[in-house]
Amino acid sequence: MKNIIKKAEIKHILYKEEITALLSDSSFDNELFKAADRVREKYVGNEVHLRALIEFSNVCGQNCKYCGLRAGNKKIERYSLAEKIIIGFASKAAGYGYKTAVLQSGESGCYSTDQIVSIIKKIKELGLALTLSIGEKTFEEYKAYKKAGADRYLLRIETTDKNLYKKLHPGMSFENRAECLFNLKKLGYEVGTGCLVGLPEQTLESLADDILFFKKLDADMIGIGPFIPNPDTPLKDEEGGTFNLALKVMAITRLLLPDVNIPATTAMETLNPNGRIIALQSGANVVMPNVTEGDYRRKYELYPGKICVYDEPEKCRGCITSKITSIGRTVSKEQGISRHFEKKKTINK
Ligand code: SAM
Ligand code: SF4
Ligand code: FES
Repeated sequence: MKNIIKKAEIKHILYKEEITALLSDSSFDNELFKAADRVREKYVGNEVHLRALIEFSNVCGQNCKYCGLRAGNKKIERYSLAEKIIIGFASKAAGYGYKTAVLQSGESGCYSTDQIVSIIKKIKELGLALTLSIGEKTFEEYKAYKKAGADRYLLRIETTDKNLYKKLHPGMSFENRAECLFNLKKLGYEVGTGCLVGLPEQTLESLADDILFFKKLDADMIGIGPFIPNPDTPLKDEEGGTFNLALKVMAITRLLLPDVNIPATTAMETLNPNGRIIALQSGANVVMPNVTEGDYRRKYELYPGKICVYDEPEKCRGCITSKITSIGRTVSKEQGISRHFEKKKTINK
């Protein structure tokens, strides 16, 4: 096991069987986490990049079986924020010193392409880098957002097990989601993907495939989180993922994709009160604090127990900064473009 970790740390390549072996044996977890931490420091440094997350609408036309925002969930109170409220949140985020805003929502037709384009342009006027996480769109829509100034796009593949994907995403297709990711790459976005860990019927082999998919896609950012069962979804009685397995998938991802951006995810902190800091010490270099205000945080309930739902942006900003500095890391003052993306751009020049 130690040799596999050493090989991954030096060569950043592993066979599927080696990844599965690492995932199935817990005796060397500490060595794995420490190796991922060393690779993180060597390739992306000690700065932590903060992304201001704006959850601007919880309306969704899809029915992903694990997600509280799914169309079939009638218990959730829906909202879609007006442009000026979204811009207000982004503007305050810039005031708190954030350099990147992330606009996230369910996948719906609530906003026309023109409306999204207008929001993108106004956020760009604030001098922020902008990430979108609004689901599967057409090539033309992605093109319009890019032209308006969007820099990055997050679209998790969720699972690369095609049978499982089909079961969990009625009316959606793995092929279309993968095509969206390749389209985003073609259009010059910094592309983020990722997976859920601990889905029902998910195997360690398929998690190994997920990591290899991130490499094949040549992704710039990878977000990994445990699946947390939501009582208002069809998966309410499932066990859910564990913090430790999600952390291991994340650490191996850092070893194999050394210079990408990897967030310490909110779902990790939901399962472990110190989850984001542990993740930052096991390969992560990004945190995405919520800057949505008031009741909307609570209404954006993907899963129960989501952190910070009763907190305000200013508190979260101070809280996360002190946690980061307490482990000897610094909050970056830059936009924190993925080093991997920057390197590709230089090579292609
Ligand atoms: N609708 C867009 C999409 O699906 O890409 C963006 C918003 S969606 C709420 C963001 C992420 O939430 C998904 O990619 C999924 O991995 C995660 N998520 C949804 N339900 C979850 C759950 N029960 N536990 C953990 N993460 C969950
Ligand atoms: Fe909608 Fe995204 Fe939730 Fe799926 S994961 S139901 S697309 S918000
Ligand atoms: Fe919200 Fe700590 S990050 S209170």
